[in-house]
Amino acid sequence: MNELLKWRSEFPILERTTYLISNSLGAMPRGVYANLKAYADSWAHRGVRAWEEGWWEMAVGVGDKVAPLIGASAGEISLHQNVTQTQAVITSCFDFRGPRNKVVMTDLEFPSIQYFYHEQRRFGARVELVPSGDPVRFDLDKFLAAIDETTLLVPISLVLFRSSFVVNAKAIVEKAHRAGARVILDVFQGTGTIPIDVRGLGVDFAVGGVLKWLCGGPGVAYLYVREDLRSKLKPALTGWIAHQRPFAFETGPIDQREDSFRYLNGTPHIPALFACQPGLEILNRVGIGAIREQSIAMTTRLVEGARARGWRVNTPENSAERAGTVSVDCPHAAEVCRELLSREILVDYRPKAGIRLSPHFYNTQDECDYALGQIEEILRTGAWAKHSSALAPA
Ligand SMILES: Cc1ncc(COP(=O)(O)O)c(C=O)c1O
Repeated sequence: MNELLKWRSEFPILERTTYLISNSLGAMPRGVYANLKAYADSWAHRGVRAWEEGWWEMAVGVGDKVAPLIGASAGEISLHQNVTQTQAVITSCFDFRGPRNKVVMTDLEFPSIQYFYHEQRRFGARVELVPSGDPVRFDLDKFLAAIDETTLLVPISLVLFRSSFVVNAKAIVEKAHRAGARVILDVFQGTGTIPIDVRGLGVDFAVGGVLKWLCGGPGVAYLYVREDLRSKLKPALTGWIAHQRPFAFETGPIDQREDSFRYLNGTPHIPALFACQPGLEILNRVGIGAIREQSIAMTTRLVEGARARGWRVNTPENSAERAGTVSVDCPHAAEVCRELLSREILVDYRPKAGIRLSPHFYNTQDECDYALGQIEEILRTGAWAKHSSALAPA
């Protein structure tokens, strides 16, 4: 008996669906009901006093529940609304108008991040988008060669969102630091499914969100800044929460705090900070070691099952290079995905990836087999064809 399955009863949606989409939105823990009630109660009964009775501290305090999952310590994380905004906070610490103004990234990076950096060109950024020419991975040597003494920032995902390929972050950090550049490691698709050690890697920044593998729901993203940089950098995207004395309401320039509050700006997203905690607590209790072991067993079974049926798999075969998702590029994948959804098998489809199947610690081998069996049946019976005129989900 797989020990981790005892957690299934904490996730109501598992009773009704085959939930294989934790790469997109992790299942909601039932504890979220109580936490959102606690939020409403504190607002209803304590009113404005709730700020000093806990709310004010939450955008850093709740980060302590993310810290152990990425190898950081208490107090090292600030919480924001989404990952794109964490990139904005980080870039606001730098100036693209000098000779060191290059941003090196791959075309496999999550599109929102590519859009964000391309818009920074109006402030002087030069963006070198290293082409991958492959849906699964990019050429590491080519990427490293693009990092030079004019490079300012290297935003890179630890786990690529389409293929679940695990990037060699150590090599990138080493090259970037030799060149004097800063690395922003996006650990979104890795945290909660593979072991991560941001301190060991020596990354300058790490960012990610809680709504996927951490089962924390939308509205909370984390930003880790390396200890020795934390008080030196000065975010221009700032605000009164970052002030040493916010309630003095001093006018003029800001006197920023030296700790992680320095990276905050305006009023925090309190309801989301309440909602995210049950998922984080469960993930910490389950433990990444046990999750990774189960994840490898299930993703291996999916890769083998898809290959045995003759389907292309856009995910590394070697489990050491693969995180939690298997992208199955079967015929008519977009339409097959829609039919799976109508059968309560929750997965997604991405262009150049295929159907993404993402078992988590609460899934069973049987659910993986069932999903593959249903894809086979949908193709055999032609049930996919009724979706052929529908727009594929983006
Ligand atoms: C690797 C990665 N980075 C960033 C994002 C998006 O971040 P956000 O919507 O929080 O800005 C995603 C979302 O799927 C992602 O997979």
